[in-house]
Amino acid sequence: MNDAQPKLPRARGPVSAAVIGALRGPVGSVRLPSLDDIDVLGDDDAQLALTCCYELHYRSFSGVDDGWEWDANLLSATSRLERAFVDRLADEVGPPVPVPGRAAITALMDLAHGDGPSLSAYVEKQATLRELREFLVHRSAYQRKEADPHTWAIPRLSGRAKAAMVAIQYDEYGDGIATAMHAELFATTMRGMGLDPTYGAYLDLLPGATLATDNLATLFGLHRRWRAASVGHLALFEMTSVVPMGRYAAALQRLGATTEHQRFYRVHVEADQVHERVAQDEMVAGLLESEPATAGTLLFGARALSEVERRFSRHLLTSWSQHRTSLRTPLDWTDASASAASSGSAGHSSTGASVTRIHVARAVAPRCESAS
Ligand SMILES: [Fe+2]
Ligand SMILES: [Fe+2]
Repeated sequence: MNDAQPKLPRARGPVSAAVIGALRGPVGSVRLPSLDDIDVLGDDDAQLALTCCYELHYRSFSGVDDGWEWDANLLSATSRLERAFVDRLADEVGPPVPVPGRAAITALMDLAHGDGPSLSAYVEKQATLRELREFLVHRSAYQRKEADPHTWAIPRLSGRAKAAMVAIQYDEYGDGIATAMHAELFATTMRGMGLDPTYGAYLDLLPGATLATDNLATLFGLHRRWRAASVGHLALFEMTSVVPMGRYAAALQRLGATTEHQRFYRVHVEADQVHERVAQDEMVAGLLESEPATAGTLLFGARALSEVERRFSRHLLTSWSQHRTSLRTPLDWTDASASAASSGSAGHSSTGASVTRIHVARAVAPRCESAS
């Protein structure tokens, strides 16, 4: 585990420049520009600004005054970004409205069993090593802090829902074993694929579509009024994990990764069969039993997750189908060559295909596939 704080990222536009510029100085004012003409849902600049606001509640950044975390000016800027983010999500999936608990569960099941071309199916069968490494870099935004965003919700829950979320989170944190924490297993996978697992190492490379997936989990976790959305988000995470995780493990195997480096994904195939049941039968059912009026918000959390994941998948598949990097700038390829050579995979897939060959993806309506 590397406890070092990441560096502040580079600004991408006026919104992130306002936040990052402020964080470089003493605690004080933040002059956020107007967000009126920005589609915050996928905007690189605005999503990075929100990420910087949220990271103050996790590890923050080197050289940033800890006083910024609860500074009223910074919180005001965060709130404006969050309102714009939520408004755009509501545009896409509808605002939270009262629904019967039974209807929320049915809708949750429908979301979990949606069909259509999937990112994981592409990665399993066709992704090159270059594309797989990009996928891991994207996912590092969430997976190097895996479980933390939902943990914020625990004190806001009670009874069965709380106990179930704690049970799931306990597994996510490695059942009390530091090296088994899922965030650490993901670091092992990154290392094995020649990537830097340092927390925040790739923040400058991550587009808004990726940052939105991470910011959404934090948004729901940090606000008591979104506690049911956090439950819906985590439930759909668990309900859509097993098959994609098996596919990602198979992709790693196909491209020469060792058993150790596949472990993050293999562990999820087993664990999330259990988590899926706990999430539905205890966490969701328990919340709807104790707070039936939250059913609409629970469903909003799941639908919002589905929407940001759909956009994330579409971004990757479209980029790859057009022979472009899905990151803001391409990865440095040198370290991967060294790693692959030392592990015996020699920069080629087990099928003999060149790792630099780009496959064409079917980039239409990807379904929600998350990772818990
Ligand atoms: Fe996990
Ligand atoms: Fe899980």
